[in-house]
Formats: sequence, C-alpha cells, structure tokens
Amino acid sequence: MKTFIYKADHEHIEQAAELLRKGEIVAIPTETVYGLAANGLDAEAVAKIFAAKGRPQDNPLILHISDFSMLEDIAEEIPEFAKKLADKFWPGPLTMIFPKKNIVPAETCGGLDTVAVRMPKQEFTRELIRKCGFPLAAPSANTSGLPSPTAAVHVFEDMNGKIPLIMDGGECACGVESTVITFENSGLRVLRPGAITPEMLRKYTQVTVDSGVLQKLAPNVRALSPGMKYKHYSPKAEVYIADGTIEQLCGYLKINSYGKIAVLCGESDEIPDFCIRLPYGDTSEQQAEHLFASLREADALGCDAVYVMMPEQTGMGLAVYNRLLRAAAFRIIKLHEQGEQP
Ligand code: TXA
Ligand code: MG
Repeated sequence: MKTFIYKADHEHIEQAAELLRKGEIVAIPTETVYGLAANGLDAEAVAKIFAAKGRPQDNPLILHISDFSMLEDIAEEIPEFAKKLADKFWPGPLTMIFPKKNIVPAETCGGLDTVAVRMPKQEFTRELIRKCGFPLAAPSANTSGLPSPTAAVHVFEDMNGKIPLIMDGGECACGVESTVITFENSGLRVLRPGAITPEMLRKYTQVTVDSGVLQKLAPNVRALSPGMKYKHYSPKAEVYIADGTIEQLCGYLKINSYGKIAVLCGESDEIPDFCIRLPYGDTSEQQAEHLFASLREADALGCDAVYVMMPEQTGMGLAVYNRLLRAAAFRIIKLHEQGEQP
C-alpha cells in the first residue's frame, strides 16, 4: 500500500473523511501526539489499527470526539463532575474513562466495560470527526513499543506501506500523550500523567496519582490502565536517566561510556566533545515537547546510548518522568551517590 502525506487543511479534509467512512485508517494530528485513527464504532476498522501498530488486543483505545453530545452516545453514565472537567479542559489533553454503551465494540475497549474519551484541541481534527459523524479511535501512531510520533515524518517512519494516509498538521505542541483519569467515589485517579497536571486537577477534587505512574507493575497486579503494563517509548539505543548535576554526568561519561552517546540536557549545559547533544530544554514543557523526537533522532543517528537529565516530578515534569522511566526500562544512574568513583 502506498502511504500518502497530505497537509491537514480544508483542501484535503474530505479525502481523509472518505477513507475513514470506508473503514480505513488515517493518521491524524492532535495537540499531544499523532494518532492512528479509524471509526471507533466499527470493530473491523479498529482491528486494522491493532494490526498496523502491532498492539496487544487487550490494550484499549481512546475515542476522540468533536462535540460533547458525542460523549452521550458512547458513555452509559456521565458524572456531573465530568461535565465540569469537560467545561474546563475540553477540547484539550484530558482523557476521561466512563462506563461504555453497547454501541462501542468490545474490540475498541480491549474487552473492558469502560471507554476512554477525549476531545482533541486541533481544530482540523475536530472538524474531521464532525464530518465523519462517529468518534475516532486513535492510539498514538507509532509502532507498539516505540516512542510516540510528534511529527508526520515520525508516523511515516513507522507506518509507511501500512496505512493509506497521514494528515500533516505540523509538530505537536505538547509532545506527550493526554492525561488519563478515572473517577472514584472520593475524587479521581490519574492513570497516565500529561499536560493536565495533578496540581491543576486538585483545584476541583481529591486526586490520587496511581502507583503505576512511577513504579513498575508487579507481574501479578491487574493494571487499571492496561497500557501501563507494556514496554513503551523505547528507541533502539539504551536510555539512562541521569540523577545528579550535569557536571557529575560529564564525569561519569568520561569514565563509563562506550560507543556513540547522545545527551538530552539543558540548553546551556556543557557536555563532553564526544557526546551528541539532542534537543531537550530547561522547562518541563520544553522537555515534553522534545523528548520523543530526540529519542527517535538518537536512533536515526545510530546512537548506542542516550543519557537524559532527570526531569522535575511535578507539573508537566511528572508526564516527562513517567515516559522516560519506561523508555529507560527504569534504569536510573544515581550520580550523587557515585561521586567521582563510579
Ligand atoms: O494524547 C493521547 O491520548 C493520544 C492522542 C492520539 O490522542 N492517544 C494515545 O493513545 O496516547 P494510546 O492508545 O497510545 O494510549 C491510551 C492509553 C493506554 O495506556 C490505554 O491502556 C489507556 O489509555 N486506556 C484506554 N482505554 C482505557 C480504559 N477503558 N480503561 C483504562 N485505561 C484505558
Ligand atoms: Mg501509545
């Protein structure tokens, strides 16, 4: 199959809608990462997404809606509080989990009786959903296990020959996937951190950050969000989180590193000459924007290892840290404790 890339604009929107109406897959831009979209109410169309990504069948998809009324078609029960959050944060990077209506096929939800829903910010994408008249199931448009795509060219790297069309909406503003929350009696639980931070949500209710956000799931524990149990976001290069100062990391690299090394650090941080500097940034927002693209770039350059400075663990930093822990398979180099002697 030939994979076309069209600009995400009014000239091309009808071609995308037509493919989606026919049960095909189209990659779509969102404010978080690119999504691999298909009719979320059509089990056969959804099966094509799982096949293109190589995604385990029990990992449920998010349904993307254009208007609040679409939520009423797919969610069995909408807590009052969810309406308040939708008012405040939709369209935007917040995914909420509801009991699902029968119209949503089991295949979309990985066999669960709940459905995850979000309204993306990208104007083009909401217009596309409106034209289709059905919600779009859309996981991140990467091959399962690889870093999520934040540019159309990343989608092409993974999906060339597997899908008919990629809509190019430029680079994604957030760079990490949406915040996923579920409702509990006493408030809500964050299953995956994103740009809508626990601090922002705490203004409205009690917020628990699920233990799976920063910890490896024990093999016998049932994941509240099935996605958390899979290997994620990993480039081919080995990723390490550097917990310490940039000077400590430089000292460590001079003694310990081998092969081609990339470092993700602050703009003014100095790194050894033998290392390749990849874009990262000084704020959590910048780091979120660049993380996945830089991990992909490390592979494109044939790096053996990537060292990433430890992010903040609050605000948007929590989302960066959550993705990074998985990309690094939880490998943290504690430079404080190592001193000069590793
Ligand atoms: O920003 C995003 O959310 C992007 C863009 C394309 O919208 N999408 C995305 O989808 O990240 P995906 O499939 O890569 O991640 C969805 C996450 C997975 O961890 C999945 O397990 C969880 O949401 N999820 C989906 N439905 C769920 C449900 N009913 N209950 C619990 N977790 C669910
Ligand atoms: Mg994903």
